[in-house]
Order: sequence, then C-alpha cells, then structure tokens
Amino acid sequence: MVQIEIINGPNLNLLGNREPDIYGDQTFEDFLMGLRERYVGVEIGYNQSNVEGEIVNFLQAADCSDSCKGIILNAAAYSHTSIAIADAIKAISKPVILVHISNIYSREVERRTDLLVASAKGMISGLGLVGYELALRSLLM
Ligand code: DQA
Repeated sequence: MVQIEIINGPNLNLLGNREPDIYGDQTFEDFLMGLRERYVGVEIGYNQSNVEGEIVNFLQAADCSDSCKGIILNAAAYSHTSIAIADAIKAISKPVILVHISNIYSREVERRTDLLVASAKGMISGLGLVGYELALRSLLM
C-alpha cells in the first residue's frame, strides 16, 4: 500500500484549542480520522513532536521506508529557525511538501521567512487543514 507520512512540529498537538481564530477549532486527530476515511487506499502515518531533533529523526525514518511516497511537514515555529531540519530535508530523497495552516506571509515579520522551503518540493500556506489534503493529493499524483 502507498504510504504518506505527516510530520507536525511544536504546539500542533494543541490544535483545536490553540488560537482557534488563527488555526481553527478542529483537533488534528479529528482531521486525520476524516482524511484516513477519504483515502482508504493510502497508509497515512502521523508523528508529532515539540522537539527539533525528533523531527529530524522522523524525516530520516520516513526516508528509509521503501513504501513511503512522500512526506508532508508542518515544522511550525521551527520552519523559521531550523537549519537542522532544512539540512535533513536536503539529505533525504523522498519529496517533502511543507504545510502552514495560516498564511505566514500575512503574519508577524519573523514568520515570513521559511528556512525549509528552498529544500522542499513545495509549500502550501494559509488554506487551513485542507492544505494537508492538497499536499497529500499532489504526492499521490
Ligand atoms: C504554523 C505557522 C508558524 O509560524 C507557527 O509557529 C505554527 C504553525 C502554521 O501552520 O500556520 O506553530 O506553521
């Protein structure tokens, strides 16, 4: 079965309660359940961590899995700071699509730079949780 890995970074475990005016009121687990129901032929793996190095570990592990077709990554605040995660994306061979739930370009100045995007296949920003589904569809094409 085709496998897609979703990796979420810090504070995304709090979706549903966290700043709902920006990130919406749905938990990621609830969204993921619906996504898995809509894509029954796809094995959708999911990992979340608040720790930078664990995100690097998740990326490397997903790359080692033969059945993994691609990775959807929302590195959250680490998107704006992490050379280690940018290096990990460059080091692996599987395509990585970045997702931001909010439009980072319409927010505070410090969020307008994404250090990962140059290493990624592409990025979706500002479309809410739908961005994950669009990234999934693009990896399946
Ligand atoms: C985010 C945007 C980041 O700036 C922020 O730190 C997050 C979430 C988003 O999905 O919109 O935690 O990546």
